[in-house]
Amino acid sequence: MLKTPLGSLLASTLLVLGAISLSGCSNSELQSGKDIDPNSQQAMRAAEQARDSLPGKAHYERACAACHEGAIERAPHRQMLVLMTPETILRALTSGLMQAQSSQLSDEQKRDVAEYLGGRSVAASSPAYTACDAGAPKLAATQAIKTRNWGLTPDNKRHLTSDITSITGSNANELKPLWAFAFNGANRARSQPLFVGDLLITGSHSGEVLALDAASGCVRWQFQAASEVRTGIIGDETQGPAGQLLYFGDVLGTVYAISATTGKEQWRTRADTHPNATITGTPSLFEDRLYVPVSALEVSNAVDPLYECCTFRGSVVAMNRQTGAIEWQTHTIAQPPTSQGKNASGTTQYGPSGAVVWNSPSIDTKRRRLYVGTGENASSPATKTSDALMAMNLSDGSIAWSWQGTARDAWNTACDSLTPDNCPEENGPDYDFGAATLIATTSDGRDLVIGGQKSGVVHAIVADTGKHLWSQRVGRGGIQGGIHFGIAADSQRIYVPVTDMPDGRTYPDPARPGVHALNIDTGEPLWYAKSPNVCNARAFCHPGVSQSISVINDMVLAGGMDGVVRGYNVASGKLVYELDTTADFVTVNGATTAGGAFGGAAGPVAQNNRVALSSGYGLYNHMPGNLLLMLER
Ligand code: HEC
Repeated sequence: MLKTPLGSLLASTLLVLGAISLSGCSNSELQSGKDIDPNSQQAMRAAEQARDSLPGKAHYERACAACHEGAIERAPHRQMLVLMTPETILRALTSGLMQAQSSQLSDEQKRDVAEYLGGRSVAASSPAYTACDAGAPKLAATQAIKTRNWGLTPDNKRHLTSDITSITGSNANELKPLWAFAFNGANRARSQPLFVGDLLITGSHSGEVLALDAASGCVRWQFQAASEVRTGIIGDETQGPAGQLLYFGDVLGTVYAISATTGKEQWRTRADTHPNATITGTPSLFEDRLYVPVSALEVSNAVDPLYECCTFRGSVVAMNRQTGAIEWQTHTIAQPPTSQGKNASGTTQYGPSGAVVWNSPSIDTKRRRLYVGTGENASSPATKTSDALMAMNLSDGSIAWSWQGTARDAWNTACDSLTPDNCPEENGPDYDFGAATLIATTSDGRDLVIGGQKSGVVHAIVADTGKHLWSQRVGRGGIQGGIHFGIAADSQRIYVPVTDMPDGRTYPDPARPGVHALNIDTGEPLWYAKSPNVCNARAFCHPGVSQSISVINDMVLAGGMDGVVRGYNVASGKLVYELDTTADFVTVNGATTAGGAFGGAAGPVAQNNRVALSSGYGLYNHMPGNLLLMLER
């Protein structure tokens, strides 16, 4: 199915806009905003027009389009390819999976295709990272890992206790930058790093996975994934036949296992064959399996009236950790999509679809279940499992229960565009569960599954029964509002980051950006640390907290959309620590770089006397940056 030039122009114009309904922006916001975001409609349309005049366009249409615009199941859609850097696309053609498919192109034509899709020139060469001294001792066969999953503990509380780190709210003011690392070819840092022995391992925008010496920031080993690594890196101390492995996913929906000591690949598995499948939430590791949350960026294809919207269903995939073999896949929508008639342009519509999974599963080791939150439906009919919290049995993926936060929410980017043919009749409100679920325990010993929604509401469900216990509104909510990437908890309270970024719409509730603390038993608000507005006229700077947050002993550490990381006392909400990462930092290589907005699920991680922060989020109207900063006390 080849698209008209108009169709593909519109589709990719809106790509970033709609790519993440989780934090997509509405047209009205972009039109009314005074910032000229490089991802704004105008800027993207201009970029697309500039792209159309590039010589790579004709080569792409001749050699790639037949497979990459939806006709072939496994082939990533063009809209996924434009998320890649030109360097990674070129690598796929010259030395990767697409060598045969591009063999008809000359070297120059391959480069042209990479530049056409990647939207900029292929960098002549990236500045070399500083390698660790060749004489450094060989890494021991097993590297210690104290926090195995994205949620730092299997229940996703994101709470680091004194057995893991000595940092507290009382000594945080002793933290000083130890080293700064700048990612090459990146405008964001959204892969949560993992402390592995004396290393800090992280993914990046350009698809590099880097093992940095935790003391100095030099590079110990490096692995190249096919595309951007948005997930965190996870692993534990288990030694299989291939030694100790680390795991992560990439934006094209592939999961990887690599050696913790050498970075050598052990296996890679595509989690889902749909052309728009992607992995943003970090897989969770438990016993002999990885549990992989699968999402898609199909809501952005829908803006093209000729796109047969929509056929992707969210799922969780269980993979064997040693081989990558898929052991089960449970869709969040049981019924496969079927034809639902035609839109105004005569294009067949499919549904139900959507209910994608953006977040890292919390693991209930007692009940042997996992919990995830789902997104909205991408087309009609709406289902009961969109915007829902779901419990799945680890053994076979069967669904133990599900509870819906917002009913009848079907939405895609067509709804906010000039070409609304594919907009479902429900038309939003686009209130995903973006943030991961966590398991908290009440004072009388009941386990609750806690979920935070873009609506600005936190919900508590009884883990045993799936019954609703309480809901509490903490933020205004909105398409760019409410709760985005990750809540946290300790044994006393739940801590909730709220963005409530202005989006040009009006809402009944006031914006309440910042961090909120709630009582676990009742959801009753305990304190609210409002984000100050220190943005002044600074472009893309907003108060509020989008990135996932962490609890480090008695301090909640939260990276703001203004680039400032702030620590709050867990009991009082009092500000105990503050650092602006948008200042200039001299990097390990002797260059200078700055951070930007904190975004994505890459919340702060700490071990012993060190904290690592990932700063920069150059998309959806946020401040770009490419900084990984290690602090030490
Ligand atoms: C005959 C169909 C076909 C053609 C023609 C084709 N591709 Fe692909 N492409 C695929 C499939 C299928 C995959 C997924 C492979 C997999 O995951 O095993 C893929 C994957 C890719 C990837 C991701 C690579 C990775 O490592 O995950 C890129 C980038 C890509 N193609 C670019 C291109 C470009 C650019 C062209 C044109 C020069 C092209 N492809 C031509 C079918 C095709």
